[in-house]
Amino acid sequence: MPKPKTIIVYESYHHHNTETIARVIAQRLQADLYKPEQVNLSKLSDYEALGIGTGIYFSKPHEKIQSFLNSIPNLTGLKGFIFTTSGSINQIYIQGIITKIISAMEQKGLQIIDYFFTKGWDTFGPFKLLGGINKGHPDLDDLYKAELFANKILNTLKSKI
Ligand SMILES: Cc1cc2nc3c(=O)[nH]c(=O)nc-3n(C[C@H](O)[C@H](O)[C@H](O)COP(=O)(O)O)c2cc1C
Repeated sequence: MPKPKTIIVYESYHHHNTETIARVIAQRLQADLYKPEQVNLSKLSDYEALGIGTGIYFSKPHEKIQSFLNSIPNLTGLKGFIFTTSGSINQIYIQGIITKIISAMEQKGLQIIDYFFTKGWDTFGPFKLLGGINKGHPDLDDLYKAELFANKILNTLKSKI
């Protein structure tokens, strides 16, 4: 099996929603899949691409993802992509958060290919009383869309644009 050329770094704890998506994308890309604290920063430049996955907490990526992006070296030459899960999937709201992740990655020299966001089961705060919102998500359709996203990333990496 060829050595994975993509590394995915994710954080996910609430209902492991983002982890579910991360595993689908990692499998399709044959990517190495790590939590931020497991990453050897000095080996990052060995990869062709870095994917970042995170749930949204208080309108931000997980703080470990924010710290990770601050701590990585310059990775000019690597491609990047992002995926999130969240209670809200209001396009403007999520794009605002993803734009900040893109900006942090671009500051480290990464060239962003694309991003993907989807619903995640959310039982935080008052939603808990109602059984949460987005119960059952990510569902099979969400996973299918995540796989299509991974296909797009794979094709871009193969074409080496
Ligand atoms: C402490 C906390 C804060 C959250 N804040 C937000 C938020 O600001 N906006 C939102 O859309 N969803 C919010 N959510 C919902 C999560 O983004 C959603 O459940 C996500 O899928 C969790 O991902 P995970 O299971 O991978 O941790 C929050 C969830 C938790 C637990």
